[in-house]
Amino acid sequence: MTKPHKPQSNAMLKRAHENMPLGVADSYRYWGEENTVFLSSMEGCTITDCDEQTFVDFRLAYGPIILGYRDERVDNEVIHAITTVGTISGFSTGLDSDVVELVKSLCPNIDKMRFANSGTEAVIGAVRTARGFTKRNKIVVVEGGFHGLHDEVMWKSDVDNWEVSDEKPPEIIPFGAGIPQSTREHQVSVPLNDFKAIDSVFAQHGDDIAAILIEPIMGNCGSIASTQAYMQKLRDVCDANDSLLIMDEVKTGFRVAKGGAQALYGIYADLTTYAKAMGNGYPIAAFGGKANVMDAISFAKDGVTHGGTYTANMVALSAAKATLTVLKETDALATIATVGQKIQALLSRVFTKFDIEHCFAGPDAMFGVHFGSEVPQNYRDWKKTNSDLYTQFALNLIDNGVMLEPDSREPWFICEAHQTVDLKWLEQVAEQSMSAAINAE
Ligand SMILES: Cc1ncc(COP(=O)(O)O)c(C=O)c1O
Repeated sequence: MTKPHKPQSNAMLKRAHENMPLGVADSYRYWGEENTVFLSSMEGCTITDCDEQTFVDFRLAYGPIILGYRDERVDNEVIHAITTVGTISGFSTGLDSDVVELVKSLCPNIDKMRFANSGTEAVIGAVRTARGFTKRNKIVVVEGGFHGLHDEVMWKSDVDNWEVSDEKPPEIIPFGAGIPQSTREHQVSVPLNDFKAIDSVFAQHGDDIAAILIEPIMGNCGSIASTQAYMQKLRDVCDANDSLLIMDEVKTGFRVAKGGAQALYGIYADLTTYAKAMGNGYPIAAFGGKANVMDAISFAKDGVTHGGTYTANMVALSAAKATLTVLKETDALATIATVGQKIQALLSRVFTKFDIEHCFAGPDAMFGVHFGSEVPQNYRDWKKTNSDLYTQFALNLIDNGVMLEPDSREPWFICEAHQTVDLKWLEQVAEQSMSAAINAE
């Protein structure tokens, strides 16, 4: 997939195997002995590996890069903050409120917020706050959703080993070893856009459901999205049962619209998690929501505990302030949407040329590509798509200098810097890649 002769990358992997399991710092970065990527630099919408192969990148670190790599508007603010103020102190600065007020100006669903260092931590904080506020235990999650690497949400529908023709639903399995069965006790899983399933879960567990936790647009499942009616259903069912609606906007926040997915639906959560696009690649995350819910975080005997040594550090907050200011004050997101539309149009021309049924899911800034006649409505529907053809197409794109995840469950991420991409070149490359994928079938 990446070019065959890669002496530097191979040497780096060899060295890294001595130092880290699988030779990588995150297991998902291991792409096999021949194709694990080691970079030497990133700039704009491109990444360059240590064997000097440059790729136009649609993976964008799984979503955080919203403006572009090494965006000076952000980097200079961070340099200024750490050289004139500092990094962390274990105390507060005015920057905390600067960032919260910026978020509040973009997201009417936020009255109060707390910071975290990763999406995982933000979800942990939101779920704990929901439980502390409602004094209930159960969390309803949606098949195909992803909410980070903490034990309780590391249970997934095993759609890979399930057939559409199976009468039984996919099995729910852990993401591997080390996840105690007890962490499943309070989790219930439903297929997206299935009204009956949600009614039945509430009929069975309603008085112990603390919250529904959902990615409104599943950034980890090909951008398959909740319908407007289903999102309204979730809002209504939560209100009727005194449960909270938590929207996990770690991928969609500040990307699909200035106010995230909630601005697109016009339906608002009680608690929301943010991360990725909030800091253009700097490690910032947050959760927030209605004041009465967030005020469950307190030193009262029955209050919720939240904090952490690196919470609201100056590197993260200065990056968030700069990124959110650019997103708020410029047309960056409109530019991203236009580029995303153009790329979907050119891909569609290529697929049509080869007579391939296809559809796009989700918004232009983060769209999923599915080979099938209908946009999947949930994770089980995804299994009906020709994901093997997609993977082959994606591997060929990588071969030709276009980086993306070779799995149709990961969307194409667009950043502002993609406006510089030569779309004619991209169309040609897509055509070559599809032609080779069909020949390989
Ligand atoms: C929707 C969603 N929630 C939570 C997470 C976890 O975020 P992190 O990897 O920053 O811990 C992710 C990561 O991809 C995500 O997409």
